[in-house]
Parts: sequence; structure tokens; C-alpha cells
Amino acid sequence: MARVQSRYVCQSCGASVLRWEGQCHACGEWNTLVETVVREPHPRPPAAVSAGAGAPPTPLSHAGETAPIRTPVGIGELDRVLGGGLVAGSVVLVGGEPGIGKSTLLLQVAAGIADGAGVLYATGEESPGQVRLRAQRLGLTTGRVGDAIRVVAETGVGRIADLARQERPGLLVVDSVQTVASEDLDGPPGSVGQVREVALRLMELAKGDGIPVVLVGHVTKDGTLAGPKTLEHLVDVVLSIEGDRSGALRLLRAAKNRFGSTEEVGVFEMGERGLAEVPDPARAFLGEHDGPAPGSVPAPVLEGTRPLLVEVQALVAPTGAPSPRRTASGVDPNRLALLVAVLGRRAGIGLAGHDVYANLAGGLSVDEPGLDLPLALALASSFRDRPLVPGTVAIGEVGLLGELRSVSGLERRLREAARLGFTRAVVPRAGGRVPSSVDGLEVVATGSVADAIRAALAEAPVGSARGR
Ligand code: TYD
Ligand code: MG
Repeated sequence: MARVQSRYVCQSCGASVLRWEGQCHACGEWNTLVETVVREPHPRPPAAVSAGAGAPPTPLSHAGETAPIRTPVGIGELDRVLGGGLVAGSVVLVGGEPGIGKSTLLLQVAAGIADGAGVLYATGEESPGQVRLRAQRLGLTTGRVGDAIRVVAETGVGRIADLARQERPGLLVVDSVQTVASEDLDGPPGSVGQVREVALRLMELAKGDGIPVVLVGHVTKDGTLAGPKTLEHLVDVVLSIEGDRSGALRLLRAAKNRFGSTEEVGVFEMGERGLAEVPDPARAFLGEHDGPAPGSVPAPVLEGTRPLLVEVQALVAPTGAPSPRRTASGVDPNRLALLVAVLGRRAGIGLAGHDVYANLAGGLSVDEPGLDLPLALALASSFRDRPLVPGTVAIGEVGLLGELRSVSGLERRLREAARLGFTRAVVPRAGGRVPSSVDGLEVVATGSVADAIRAALAEAPVGSARGR
């Protein structure tokens, strides 16, 4: 007879205690403890032991001499983020908001590596019919691929693992980890205890049998993986899909990668037939309009080794409210507040009586100090209602004194801007030698945010059709 016990499990960090408490002693969060009934696990036959288990210790000089076996998934942008392909026996977590394209991406991945041992696609979220409909839309139901991907609607992790051990697919997809539960626990699917147990059982499968496993995980509004942070510690690779659901562009990032760099990003476009790679990612996130508009500043940011041009947008408008709004999306709200203060004190642009909105075009979210200067210029440009000098980009960090600090990889960024047809860049003077031009693009080195504003803004709102 299994003994029934109840524990209080923190939904934020996964710590468990015997008695209810208002605050989790482990992570300090309030009201996160949820009663979870835990049955003593049924005695299970010991997990299949991995090839290495029980082996004698190996000298470090010889340990793991063989490189991990990687299977390219056949989607260049994804392989880039994975570091060359899926590693045998690894567990990958793909996170993202509902509707962003996780199931679509995984079905395309399944198709990419279905040749050979095939793919087992366990869905707890949709019926096999729904998965089939999506596959039809992607043109994946016919031919060899249609047979090589096997779909099962199953929410018991034990049965999923058993099936995988029987079928020995080249990849197991579990969509999603929050809908699958362990038969040994009584908590509802999606609770911390369940999600962790499911992940552990699937890790056991991946490591023991060498089957790569991809888990889908939903992300809550504030950007954390629903349920437990603990999941991120368990798995080998954490990928996230970002973007504006109403738009087409998607950015794929690795938040963690035990087998590669976490710096690379992949850029996709959601179209009629699923996610397609974007031919020229560097320009994908630039906004589209007919000329320089007040409040818009193109910035060459660096995502890993890849330069991307993004458009920083700001809107400054007089407010009647006693406390003006400061709204940031895709950029750090704290940096925005700081830049508003710096502009007021160091550049004579007082925004205390103005609402301020800032965002990046394309639903992108970028966290790099180099965005300071473009953001400051966008605010100044909107405030003065003067666009940037046509063809200008800007990049640089802004300090509290209004001074500009250098950014890494400046030349690489500027070369990319030149390639995309920009003719002028406003950059920090600090940080050593700054070239006076890069591939025909004029480089204007400035020392302070006030200087940069003078160098970047057009004299008067003339030229473009948008000028008054
Ligand atoms: P989906 O993969 O179901 O998202 P998730 O699994 O992350 O919840 O993608 C859902 C959205 O993608 C849906 O709004 C429809 C859109 N979509 C396309 O635009 N083109 C396509 O070919 C497919 C399959 C989906
Ligand atoms: Mg889905």
C-alpha cells in the first residue's frame, strides 16, 4: 500500500515543507506554498543505467574525449542557436508565450530529423487530429515524413517514457511539460512538483537511452517559465521564442546551453507555411517607413556574433497628469527612467511634464547598454520633433554624467550598418581609436549625450515628407 503524505510545495522555487507557511523560507516569495499530496513512489525497477554509469573514474585528460554526437535539425537558424544540432541524450526546453509558434517549430524540427529512427510526438495539449491539421498546413503529412512522425495523445510521463523505450525514436517531443503528469504524484499537471518530476523522468530517459528530448514550456506574462524555475536548472538547453504575436518576426534565443554558446540568436518569420528563416536577419527588425521620422533611431546591436539593426522608437507628449507615464517595451524601463533624468540634467531636455513611451520595432526585446544612446536620441528627437539626419545610426552607453562610453565590436556593427545602406553613425569617442569612416560610412565620434544630440538631429524638420 502506498503511503499518502501531504507536503507544501513552493510554486516559485520548488522547495517543500511539511507545514503551511506564508512565506517560502527558501526563496522568500509570499503565498506560493500549495498543498501537494505525495504518494510514496511505487517501487520501480531501477532506471536503465547509462553506458557510463558504474564505470571507473577516467583521468581528466581522457574524459569525454569523443565530441558529443550532434544531429543537425535541418533548420539553419535553429542549428546555429543549438551550436550545431541536437546532442544525443540531451534535454531541450523550448519556452514562449502561448501562440508564439512553439508547436509549429517543433513539428518542423520533427520533420527535419524524421529520416532514420523517426520522431515520437507526445501531445497533451492537442488531439492528434489537431496536430495533423497543423502538419497539413506545413505540408508534412505526405511522403516519408508523414509516416516517420508518430503522434500520441498522452499525459502520463511513465507511459510516454515506456513508449519511447519501445519505439526508440531519434527524438521525443513532449508538448507541453505543463500538461503531462507523473502517475506517482497526486498534484495537478503543471504544478511545481509535477513539472519537476516529469522533467526528471524524461532526463532519465534521455541520459539512459540516448534519446534527445524536447520539452515545450509555457511562459507566464512576466516572462518566467510557468511553474518552476527548477526546470531551467535540470535541462541541458533552454531556448525561448520571442516576438510580437500579432507580427511575423520571431527571435529564437538560448538562455542556457550546455553544449554551445548562449549568445547566438536565430531569426524567423511566421508565414502561411510555418516558420521560415529570414534571408537577411540584420535588417529584419528595422521598422518600415518612407523616411526618417521624429522619435525613430536605427541602432546596430550585437546579438552574439550577429549584428542586427533595430529601430528604437520614442514618443514624448505633454501630459496633464500629476505623475507622467514612463512606458518601456523591449527596452529596460530602469534605463529609460535614467536616460530621462540624464537628458533633463545634462542636455537641457526636461521631460518632467511629458509622458514618455519607448519601444523597439518588431516586438523585439534587447538588453544591451549600447541601446542607451539611440534611446536618448529617440527621446530628444521626439521632444524636438526633429528627425535624425537621414542615413544615421547610433550606438553607445550613456553614463550618469551624460558622458558616452564605448561598446564592444564597434567596427563589426558599423560594417553591417554600412552594408545595409546607412551613411553616418554617431558613436562614443571614448574607448580608444575610433575610425573616421567604415566601409564608406562616416563615423561621428562624440563625448557627451548633448554633443551626440547636436550631431544626430537634423537642423530643422525639413526634407522628409513627415517634416512640418
Ligand atoms: P503554435 O505553434 O500553435 O503556437 P504555440 O505552440 O507556441 O502555442 O502557433 C500558433 C500561431 O501560429 C497561430 O496563431 C497560427 C500561426 N501559424 C501561422 O501563422 N502559420 C502556420 O503555418 C502555422 C502552423 C501557424
Ligand atoms: Mg502549442
